Amino acid sequence: MAYENIRLDTEGAVAVLTIDRPKALNALNTQTFLEMESALLLLPSQVRALIVTGGGDKAFVAGADIAEMATIGSAQAREFSALGHRVMHLLERLTIPTIAAVNGFALGGGCELALACDLIYASDKAKLGLPEATLGVIPGFGGTQRLARAVGKMRAKELIFTAERLDAAKAKEIGLVLEVLPADQLLAHCKAVAGKLIKNGPMALSQAKRVIELGADQDLRTANELESQAFGVLFGSEDQKEGMKAFLEKRPAVFSGR
Ligand code: CAA
Repeated sequence: MAYENIRLDTEGAVAVLTIDRPKALNALNTQTFLEMESALLLLPSQVRALIVTGGGDKAFVAGADIAEMATIGSAQAREFSALGHRVMHLLERLTIPTIAAVNGFALGGGCELALACDLIYASDKAKLGLPEATLGVIPGFGGTQRLARAVGKMRAKELIFTAERLDAAKAKEIGLVLEVLPADQLLAHCKAVAGKLIKNGPMALSQAKRVIELGADQDLRTANELESQAFGVLFGSEDQKEGMKAFLEKRPAVFSGR
């Protein structure tokens, strides 16, 4: 499918989704969200890990598109927020692992996009933050909730209240990103991480992701019950049979994802 504002490049089992509107620092407008939604819904079935990054050399995503939002009213703003949430949920609920390669500014909606990925790695040029309050609004694509869950409520309030832009080192210090890489090594690093995890059982990764996500909003007993159920489900899979058989036969497992 031809897209204007994004690119989807697939190399074997790893796909790279690039938000690619460098003239607007990859800002998320309605069309970009619709293209992202379509690409996520139509991901080729051989894809086992997805990397999300930004086109050009300056930005991951510099936020929601301020030019598009400037003149809209309350009803349209709610709709735009709902569209953003829909795409973030879609990304978060993919059954494969997702990795944000934050290659530059990840502000507002860009930081929210990274937070909807499973793992976040940043280049040493990255700047992350939720500056919406400088525009008289709040994050609208899950930032108030996912940032608080990622770094704690008090830190999230500090970042949203001050609108401060964090450099990559500070973002790592507060647990917002996992590692900081030299800019020219970021994508290769993310591909290497993807390469490592796709060697493991796809069903196992998908269930681990599901249980971690669902369990985070539950009390410990309920969450552990979800884990037990998923553990049981995996014992009905070909992946479990192959994984354990391969161990006993002292050979690498060949997983089918079923
Ligand atoms: N929306 C629309 N256009 C944007 C944009 C955005 N979020 N961010 C940058 N651009 C555009 C600029 O308007 C500019 O376009 P022109 O060349 O046509 O003037 C182009 O991208 C380059 O940007 P700058 O000239 O500003 O580049 P810079 O290097 O001087 O500054 C920056 C970079 C600090 C990231 C600055 O562009 C900036 O502050 N951008 C806005 C960041 C922001 O406030 N993001 C939050 C948006 S609100 C949001 O996301 C709400 C939500 O959760 C729903």
